[in-house]
Amino acid sequence: MRTKQTILNRLDCVFPAKSVNEGAARATVGAFLLQMDPTLEDLSDLKCATSEAVTNAVVHGYRRDGDEKEEGEVYLSLAILPDRVVRVTVKDKGCGIEDVARARTPLFTTDPAGERSGMGFSVMEAFSDRLTVKSRPGKGTKVTFYKKMK
Ligand SMILES: Nc1ncnc2c1ncn2[C@@H]1O[C@H](COP(=O)(O)OP(=O)(O)OP(=O)(O)O)[C@@H](O)[C@H]1O
Ligand SMILES: [Mg+2]
Repeated sequence: MRTKQTILNRLDCVFPAKSVNEGAARATVGAFLLQMDPTLEDLSDLKCATSEAVTNAVVHGYRRDGDEKEEGEVYLSLAILPDRVVRVTVKDKGCGIEDVARARTPLFTTDPAGERSGMGFSVMEAFSDRLTVKSRPGKGTKVTFYKKMK
C-alpha cells in the first residue's frame, strides 16, 4: 500500500490548450519554485520538462481532425514535497495514448507532418528523477514527474 504524499505547498492551474500558453506554464513553474531558492540548472530542467508535457497535451492530446473540434483544457499542478522534492503533473482530457511504452520510446512520434522529433518524453525523463505516464484512449493523459532540487 502506498502512503499519501505530504504536500508542503502547491499550485494548481487550468488553461485552454493553446500553444501560446506554453510560455505561461514555464513562467508559472519559475515563479512558484523561486521560494525554494533553486539552482538555475534545476529550474531550467523543470521548465523544459513541463514545457514538453504541456506541448504534448496541446498538440497531441487535443489534436484536431477538423475545425469544429473544441479546444480542451490543460491542468498543471505543482507540488513541493518533503526533502526538496518537486512534483509536476500535466493532465489533459484529450484522445489518450494507445500504447504508452511505445510512445515513450525515443524518436517515436505520431506526427504525420514530420515537424516533431519524438523526443519529448526522453527530455522529460532526462530532466527529472522519475516520470510516470497514465493514459486511457478517449479519456486523456496524465504525466507526472519528480525532481529532487539541490
Ligand atoms: N498528451 C498526449 N495525448 C496524446 N498523445 C500523446 C500525448 N503526449 C504524447 N503523445 C504521443 O506520444 C508520442 C511521443 O511523444 P513525444 O513528446 O516523445 O514526441 P513528439 O511530441 O511526437 O515529438 P517532440 O516532443 O520531440 O516534438 C507523440 O507523438 C504522441 O503520439
Ligand atoms: Mg512532444
